[in-house]
Amino acid sequence: ETVELADEDYQLGEFTDFMRKEMAEQPEAVRRALRGRLDSRFATAHLGGLRLDPRDLRDVRRVKFLGCGTAYYAGQIGANLVEELARIPADAEPASEFRYRNPVVDSDTLYVAISQSGETLDTLAAVQELKRKGGNVIGAVNVVGSAVARECGSGVFLHAGPEVSVASTKAFTNMTVSFAMLALLLGRVRDLSAAHGSRLVTALQALPDQIASILEADDEVAAIASKYAQAQHMFFIGRVRGWPVAREGAQKLKEISYVHAEAYQAAELKHGPLALIDAQMPSVVVVPQDELLAKNIGTIEQIKARGGPVIAVTNASLPEGLADAVIQVPRNEPELDPILLTIPLQMLAYHVAAALGRDIDKPRNLAKSVTVE
Ligand code: G6P
Repeated sequence: ETVELADEDYQLGEFTDFMRKEMAEQPEAVRRALRGRLDSRFATAHLGGLRLDPRDLRDVRRVKFLGCGTAYYAGQIGANLVEELARIPADAEPASEFRYRNPVVDSDTLYVAISQSGETLDTLAAVQELKRKGGNVIGAVNVVGSAVARECGSGVFLHAGPEVSVASTKAFTNMTVSFAMLALLLGRVRDLSAAHGSRLVTALQALPDQIASILEADDEVAAIASKYAQAQHMFFIGRVRGWPVAREGAQKLKEISYVHAEAYQAAELKHGPLALIDAQMPSVVVVPQDELLAKNIGTIEQIKARGGPVIAVTNASLPEGLADAVIQVPRNEPELDPILLTIPLQMLAYHVAAALGRDIDKPRNLAKSVTVE
């Protein structure tokens, strides 16, 4: 598989910076990731690059996602999707932790090494350690021919196109879309029904237009960002499906705006961090329209009761006046909520960084890919 690259991929064109350009490219990037991979007839996905036949797929007893930074958070979304859709135990771990802790490597675990660049040293080292111990590892890589892609030998290419901005946006989104397809595939060789599979195929096809509609709310998100850009600290709160979204949102904000951001699981707030809430500590709360909606509304009320400003990012209709600001995204199948709910957090981080005059594409102290220890 190869991706044809045009020169314009490396030019800003009408855009002021690559992060903005790459955010805007997300609908097209997702379309590329889906192209030729969805099967409406059998309500499943085809990922030929995995080189796993149905028997191999059925032999998978556990899935472990490994990556660094944004790729690790995408892996956490992937693990949730695999557990939800395929009912296979799954988790994610930073590749750097994995490589240094003498991990137990099972022969019936499918390891997924995630990397936009395919050159991150810690991720590559985790792959090499896995191969040395006889682990079954596939890549989820954007750059074709990169070290991680070559070392894995099989996997799923992300097809996001070249990503220049240090802060990853379209590659992250394509990671999560690819993991939704992997989870669908693993689910459909097990007990995920054809009806449920069909709903997901349709839902995946709807993502590009839905992402485009979220990106259209740019002015509203910019207005919210300029209101909160002077904050010294921000919380990003989520639970279950919203938790990795909150982590990725906090990551984006800290890396490009240098505002201290901390992600926390909603129910853990009361075990410590609630002490930090006051009028100077805004919380971005991720609120999916799912069975935990009432719990998340309760979390917002707890924060408000301590005087903390709340920015809700949601696809639910929240009670009027509950949050100080609401960023609304469209609904889809609930399993895919993390994909859509992350987009406004990229936009929020972008606009906070812009309001503070940061060098958005080249944040201080960071590199696009970390190829050293
Ligand atoms: C660096 C970048 C992050 C990125 C991480 C993993 O730390 O600053 O934005 O998420 O590397 O990069 P990779 O290319 O492996 O996805």
